[in-house]
Amino acid sequence: MAMEKMWAGRFQKALDKKADDFNSSLRVDKRMYAQDIKGSIAHATMLEKQGILPSSDVDTIVDGLVGILQDIESGALPIADGAEDIHMFIEAELTNRIGDAGKRLHTARSRNDQVALDIRLYLRDEVETVVALIKDLIAAVVDKAEETADVIAPAYTHLQRAQPISFGHQLMAYAMMLLRDIQRLEDASKRMNVSPLGSCALAGTTYPTDRAFVAQALEMNGVMKNSIDGVSDRDFCVELLSAFALLMTHLSRFSEEVILWSSWEFKFVELDDSFTTGSSIMPQKKNPDMAELVRGKTGRVYGDLMAMLTVLKGLPLAYNKDMQEDKEAVFDALDTVKVCLEVFTPMIATMKVLAENTYKAAQKGFINATDLADYLTKKGMPFRSAYKIVGQIVAECIAKDCVLDTLPLADYQKYTELFTEDLYTEISLETCVSKRNSEGGASAASVRLQVAYVREVL
Ligand code: ARG
Repeated sequence: MAMEKMWAGRFQKALDKKADDFNSSLRVDKRMYAQDIKGSIAHATMLEKQGILPSSDVDTIVDGLVGILQDIESGALPIADGAEDIHMFIEAELTNRIGDAGKRLHTARSRNDQVALDIRLYLRDEVETVVALIKDLIAAVVDKAEETADVIAPAYTHLQRAQPISFGHQLMAYAMMLLRDIQRLEDASKRMNVSPLGSCALAGTTYPTDRAFVAQALEMNGVMKNSIDGVSDRDFCVELLSAFALLMTHLSRFSEEVILWSSWEFKFVELDDSFTTGSSIMPQKKNPDMAELVRGKTGRVYGDLMAMLTVLKGLPLAYNKDMQEDKEAVFDALDTVKVCLEVFTPMIATMKVLAENTYKAAQKGFINATDLADYLTKKGMPFRSAYKIVGQIVAECIAKDCVLDTLPLADYQKYTELFTEDLYTEISLETCVSKRNSEGGASAASVRLQVAYVREVL
């Protein structure tokens, strides 16, 4: 049943049923009930302090709001359909419970600044949850990197075997990306956590409000300095969505990696049974569905970002109803990012790395060719000449169906006298990896330093 509208006074006819449903955002914004009540309590307290409302009214309002919060949380008060949005629902319920005092709460406030406040408060709190989930994932990645620091694997460019590395090194690359995702979210959160309340409909108010008091009561970093900006701006949603989109890009690339690694062609990892699925027809299948879904859901978060940008791009100042769409986009992205992180972390934590297979793969594909060129360069040959000779040696190996490690010394020496017996230890996979000790390099020692660094930052 639709409730009577608070603004019904000006109208002769009730809103059409379809139009009423279309207009309502309750289904989407009811999750902000706690923030709405918190904001209203801060607002009412300020009205009292400024002598705008008498203490008797404000006490009743605050008690009423606290009661509503408790009843929503206990389930005694369901947020049933019918209201236009969560703000109207709570105000109507308050007036139902306490009468006229409830009707005074909206003094020196508009739904325009109210909704802008609520969404900022809601997202500010949710960013903390997402950051905690990313921290859990980083911790799992770092543990896995430490566990596989001594596992030798090929690294790729163009998806062609390129150079040997510690397996943990590529895992740590993802840990570093995820650290930056946290920084971006925290940075966006700082700018978001500023109070628009007191902007009212768009022009501020003639009442002697104390906006800073409200901001402080809500633990915000100050007030928005322009009332039109206060009610019109949704750039904090765009910032958050773009931070989410980038986070999903990282999860999606990581997913793609896991999907490749767990294929029969690679067999670098085995995912735990509890994070894979079977096929309805092919009995041999063990599919990496979780990673695929994360990769797929990335598209949806990009869509949410595009939706938000597109909603805003042609809007004149100040509030327009189009802006009600902000919550659909930002909440969908938020929920998606959270479920993705919740399933991705245990999938990584339970993933087994198959060291024998990564080692075997590293033995193929001439991935120590750079090291062979470096060997000659360190003996005085210019790098470009060394590079050319090693290219010819690789071609010879391919023709003879052998690898650099098994080509006889006599064959090497046809190219240059600089080759001596020590070349074989210099190009062994163990040497190639352990000597990549430059800062941020691919050796096990470097991986352990990175692990320590990330744990310190966390
Ligand atoms: N439900 C609305 C929203 O989410 C609240 C603001 C409505 N303001 C108005 N003037 N109709 O944007």
